[in-house]
Amino acid sequence: LSVVGIIPAGGSGERLGASGPKAFAVLAGKPMLEWSLEALAGLCERIVVAVPAGFEDPPDRVRGGPSRSESVRNALAAAPEATVAVVHDAARPLVTRELVERCLSELGELEGAIAAAPVTDTVKEGEDGRVLRTLDRSRLWSVQTPQVFRADALRRALETDPGRLAAATDDASLVESAGGTVRLVEAPPENLKVTTPLDMRIAEAILGSRC
Ligand code: C5P
Repeated sequence: LSVVGIIPAGGSGERLGASGPKAFAVLAGKPMLEWSLEALAGLCERIVVAVPAGFEDPPDRVRGGPSRSESVRNALAAAPEATVAVVHDAARPLVTRELVERCLSELGELEGAIAAAPVTDTVKEGEDGRVLRTLDRSRLWSVQTPQVFRADALRRALETDPGRLAAATDDASLVESAGGTVRLVEAPPENLKVTTPLDMRIAEAILGSRC
């Protein structure tokens, strides 16, 4: 197997209010991206990062696309040797090596294995400010990255039009639509996505408490 890490880090980070791209904002003493690179290193033969325009450094830092999925596709295209792809958002710096290992070992013969936490809030579907229905929480998962895939299944799933790629909020949904079977790997809720300045402070507190 050739396990390759794919890190979409091509976002602008506007909601963070940082001066540059989010992946390079300093978090607990190092650029946010570094935390993810450290967690994946040792488990991946190579890690390809999709970066914003102007930050390219081939062969392992390639230009991201206009959507997250297109960034993943660009990075995967730079790793034709990959048989297993470990996709992980730079925006989730709290990922641990242990979680990546568990996703890899749960992949088995399936197309995908993804980190996810059971939903703790009650979730309702609404329209125009009115509740349509209350969903059965016991069946709901809040999905994170890492998401590990057979690289060929992910390549095929990403061969779709830019509109569908832009609408996809994770890679597994594309693999599911292409008929792939994806396993849920229970992950800690603290593997949070850093979007706002408050998330940065929470992430710093958690990383600080780990040392
Ligand atoms: O915007 P969001 O927080 O959902 O982004 C998730 C991840 O996808 C981030 O790590 C971000 O850098 C990345 N991304 C990307 N290319 C884009 C948009 C987002 O690589 N065009």
